[in-house]
Amino acid sequence: MAIKVGIVGYGTIGKRVADAVAMQRDMKLVGVTAHSYSFNTEVAKSKGYKIFSVGDSSELKTNGIKPDGDINNLLDNVDIIVDATPKKIGKENLEKLYKLKKVKAIVQGGEKHETTGTSFVAQCNYKEALNKDYVRIVSCNTTGLCRTLHAVDKAYGIESVHATMIRRGADPGDIYHGPINAIVPVLEMPSHHGPDVQSVLHNVEIFTTALSVPSTLMHLHTLTVDLKKRINVEDAIELFKNTTRVRVVRNAEHLRSTAEIMEFARDMGRLRGDMPEICVWQEAVGITSNAHNKLLYMQAVHQESDVIPENIDCIRAMTGFKDGEKSMQMTNRTFGIK
Ligand SMILES: NC(=O)c1ccc[n+]([C@@H]2O[C@H](COP(=O)([O-])OP(=O)(O)OC[C@H]3O[C@@H](n4cnc5c(N)ncnc54)[C@H](OP(=O)(O)O)[C@@H]3O)[C@@H](O)[C@H]2O)c1
Repeated sequence: MAIKVGIVGYGTIGKRVADAVAMQRDMKLVGVTAHSYSFNTEVAKSKGYKIFSVGDSSELKTNGIKPDGDINNLLDNVDIIVDATPKKIGKENLEKLYKLKKVKAIVQGGEKHETTGTSFVAQCNYKEALNKDYVRIVSCNTTGLCRTLHAVDKAYGIESVHATMIRRGADPGDIYHGPINAIVPVLEMPSHHGPDVQSVLHNVEIFTTALSVPSTLMHLHTLTVDLKKRINVEDAIELFKNTTRVRVVRNAEHLRSTAEIMEFARDMGRLRGDMPEICVWQEAVGITSNAHNKLLYMQAVHQESDVIPENIDCIRAMTGFKDGEKSMQMTNRTFGIK
């Protein structure tokens, strides 16, 4: 029997999760919500997705959309909800709707770890989400940090990490956020990303700093990792090449910037030009010359898409599919990633 999935919040993340669910053989997309009318609603309709209204549906009707029901009807017909509403609304929905209706639910990285008590990155802690009722997918930045750090920790043992996140100011379709002409540091130490990584990689000591820049394409992370074992550059590159959902990109391919990486994703014919893999620059992997146990690397994170495969694997884990490796392979195949 296919897992019946509903999507609440059909924006940047929700619309991508909806398409990804529709691509899985073992899942059925029951429908998506419309909070207000927009081109997103028109696209959902053109894809044949059922649309369930949230609140007053008169705006939808005025614009020619006849909802298939309201959010309560959606909740009555699903095994699990993926909530992709803005920060804080996921928590509110969890308390006021999902718990009341006894529906399993995934919330996103805008919510705090305490909201569900379980935070998820498939390749790091799939088993922690097994049969759980409520799980949080960590943010795009935390997902990026966890994917590569987990691989490094397994192979070499992490003593401690310092990472700086250079964050995109807004998503490409966002006309409200910025900066448009400034570099804005996060004025708290550490930034919230470090503790957030520990909600998944419980034993990794990590300190993070962050800033925002006028770009919409991707985040860029620089990491310095102190290791328990000695490492060399070639082995580190090999490790990243062999890590699922991580892609090593090279100067020689002219993949020298976030702009070129996103152009590459579009040229590969990816849906929406997405790059769900974390991209590590081969030439930016290094070790300090006097100590072979200090690893440095840089990676780019496509904030709109890296968490989408995680949502799919989390649906399987929460509905009892035990084999995390197999789930990731099934998901990866539909995304055309390794
Ligand atoms: N964007 C990213 O880069 C990114 C990356 C990773 C994780 N996240 C996390 O993912 C979550 C969603 O972010 P997003 O960027 O996808 O947000 P978004 O693009 O603003 O989309 C949010 C969607 O939720 C709808 N919505 C608002 N209030 C609602 C309600 N009460 N009930 C049902 N739907 C409602 C919005 O509809 P209206 O437009 O009609 O209000 C919109 O369709 C957040 O927790 C965020 O932190 C975002």
